[in-house]
Amino acid sequence: MVRSRITAAIALGANVGEPERTFKRALSLLERDGDVQILRRSHWHGTDAVGGPAAQPNYTNGAVLVETTVAPGALLERLHGIESHLGRDRASEERRGPRVLDLDLLYALDEQGGLITDRGEQLQLPHPRMEERPFVLAPLKEIAPEQRLPRSGRTVSDQLAFLEQSGGLARLDSPAEARAWCEAARAAGATIGFVPTMGALHDGHLELVRRAAMENDLACVSVFVNPLQFNDPSDLEKYPRDFAGDARLLAQVGCAMVFTGSLEGFFPEELVDGELPAAARVPAGPGAAGLEGDFRPGHLGGVATIVDRLFEVVMPTRAYFGAKDFQQCLVVQHVADLRGGRPEIVRCPTVREPSGIAMASRNTLLEGEACVQALAISRGLRAAKAAWEAGDRDAASLTRQLQEGVAAPGVDVEYAEVRDPGNWTLEAPCGALERAVGLVAANVGGVRLIDNMEFDEGLR
Ligand code: PAF
Repeated sequence: MVRSRITAAIALGANVGEPERTFKRALSLLERDGDVQILRRSHWHGTDAVGGPAAQPNYTNGAVLVETTVAPGALLERLHGIESHLGRDRASEERRGPRVLDLDLLYALDEQGGLITDRGEQLQLPHPRMEERPFVLAPLKEIAPEQRLPRSGRTVSDQLAFLEQSGGLARLDSPAEARAWCEAARAAGATIGFVPTMGALHDGHLELVRRAAMENDLACVSVFVNPLQFNDPSDLEKYPRDFAGDARLLAQVGCAMVFTGSLEGFFPEELVDGELPAAARVPAGPGAAGLEGDFRPGHLGGVATIVDRLFEVVMPTRAYFGAKDFQQCLVVQHVADLRGGRPEIVRCPTVREPSGIAMASRNTLLEGEACVQALAISRGLRAAKAAWEAGDRDAASLTRQLQEGVAAPGVDVEYAEVRDPGNWTLEAPCGALERAVGLVAANVGGVRLIDNMEFDEGLR
């Protein structure tokens, strides 16, 4: 059998031991069996470590272009084999921590030069993050400057220039400065994609920012832990905060401006003795009825009030929210409707960890066995969704299966209910449903988690 040849780009990185020697050994192991030929190799670049534990050594990075008859999946396995042969222990290493050797398959081209796409658990081609990493693109530019990248549609060379430009991320400390920055951007004709956040950014947020950067001229982000939406002071107190870390991550995903502020900065005229009077608050609308509305009184009103003010400051073209906060999405749409349908609200799919848990800033507060117990939430949602997919349309039956699915030791369920996502009601619907979303809130290890899944995703 004639095996087809592919061309593949591989990234190399290390910040422990002697990276250049390790790279040489890795490349000779790669070529050892005679079925992989190195066509081009970049210089070795010294780069700062991005994220991970403080004060870790700088990295050395490089890239090679190879030609091979080895299929992409087997090539990735071979790279992992070389990593462990040279001392990397994936099982025990820290996220973004020091590395003896990191070998990544960036992309592969078929014999016609077309990009090979694969979205498996192990193999993801083209590499989903390569376009936002200058330390990957800089060496890649030496060996494949004109290669077009699938997400941005830019060449490697242009994408690197784009990132270097937005490496000058504007970091503003007040809504007043943000307002002026956005006014200037709009006056220059730019569209603005806005992602409001409370910081402690995770991949779910970054996905929103990537999309905002892709669909608009400029992406901007707010980081503000909004006291108006916390009904429990200890929850507000322990909410994770890391503005410097957030700004570092944002600079990598093409964000042009990030701003923060204080309650006084957002409501300079309205605060009375540090409190926002009822007259200055924005109604949350019908989407706030029931569930979150019952268990966190005032929370969605606090969201509506700050989101309205954020929209007024930024005046974005589009604003991006994660579908994980289902009722929040309804409330935010209501706020935009009150503002004459602006901005356009873009609801983006929930990003999940491989374990199934929905990404959330609060996940960082889960400790020990709570990390495992929390999996019951997405497991229960998947079980109810499976029942729907098997033809069950009965509200009571779906709710029972959801509740049985999430019931687990250590999971203190506040609600696990089914609603019609197209027709939000205070009470749970009964009888046969045409559309359904399962919604869950539960406390696990002292951390309040929420999640939802639309059962009839095709209708979104
Ligand atoms: O989803 C959040 O992080 C917050 O509720 C939001 C939308 C930023 C308002 O504070």
